[in-house]
Amino acid sequence: MKNRVCELFKIRYPIIQGGMVWVSGAKLAAAVSNAGGLGLIGAGSMKPELLRQHIRKAKSLTTAPFGVNIPIFSRYAEEQVNTALEEGVSVFFMSAGSPKRFTPDLKAAGCTVVHVASSPTLAKKCEDAGVDAVVVEGFEAGGHNGREELTSFVLIPQARDRVKIPLIAAGGIADGRGIAAAFALGAEGVQIGTRFAVTVESSASPAYKEYLVSSGDSATKLMLKSLIPVRLVRNTLSEELEELERRCVPAAELEKKLGPAAARRAIFDGDVDSGEVEAGEVTGMIEDIPSVSLLMARLVSEAASVLSDFPPCEVFREENGFS
Ligand SMILES: Cc1cc2nc3c(=O)[nH]c(=O)nc-3n(C[C@H](O)[C@H](O)[C@H](O)COP(=O)(O)O)c2cc1C
Repeated sequence: MKNRVCELFKIRYPIIQGGMVWVSGAKLAAAVSNAGGLGLIGAGSMKPELLRQHIRKAKSLTTAPFGVNIPIFSRYAEEQVNTALEEGVSVFFMSAGSPKRFTPDLKAAGCTVVHVASSPTLAKKCEDAGVDAVVVEGFEAGGHNGREELTSFVLIPQARDRVKIPLIAAGGIADGRGIAAAFALGAEGVQIGTRFAVTVESSASPAYKEYLVSSGDSATKLMLKSLIPVRLVRNTLSEELEELERRCVPAAELEKKLGPAAARRAIFDGDVDSGEVEAGEVTGMIEDIPSVSLLMARLVSEAASVLSDFPPCEVFREENGFS
């Protein structure tokens, strides 16, 4: 397939599984890579030694390329980068921080570097910092989010017009229709999070997966814009947070309710009532818990069908003499 994202990562399909705290360990990343996409180990919830173990495990589960996602705001970011380099990882998806911080050193070490951006302006800054590709993540996405509130529908085409490097769309994509739409808007690849979190190989707890399946079409809300915006499924904790925000309590009081422990409680331990249930707006489109190989087959065949079925293509070709 002639596609810059496939060529950059040496993968069959331009589908990337987003790095996700408490969700994307070695098992999920390797399953996605084995199915022809690019799996990412989400380092955000791992101390460096645990990251090392996951990288080693992923290598034992797949011979296909995989990468790591490192949120730059993590206090372990530098150690995580060094650990991944020591273990021979050469694909880095960096997020939540300046693209200038690690890109020069990673490029000097011969790595492929991608950065996540939430606006066309930041996408351009990533290009200027020397990354190989940029992920533009829209307002619909699960987990931590930009403050710009740009939905994928307006973010992707504007970013396409601003950067020349390969463009990967994230946020709001859960099936082949979403992939086809992202490509129509100018993306050359997609990064999918929430849909992969609800698969057999995801390390999220069964309770988290079932909560998302049953959550309905309007379950999530972008919370904590006064602190660090994050998209959560509504529950008792989110109601408490909303109440605290309404009362304009100091940031420290909000922080006490949050942090890695609250995300772990919901996603990994399964306390979906009092924990931080990070997930994207696509939860309303998720109705099952498939294996990664089944999901990948579905994504690829749906996208192919949508793209080839677009009737105006046929009419346009006939009317304009294209074969
Ligand atoms: C549970 C969860 C945890 C996430 N953790 C991270 C993370 O650690 N680092 C990161 O860059 N993005 C994180 N994300 C964002 C995903 O990598 C991805 O960009 C996003 O989920 C795409 O939007 P979607 O959920 O609509 O597919 C997370 C998303 C979810 C749902």
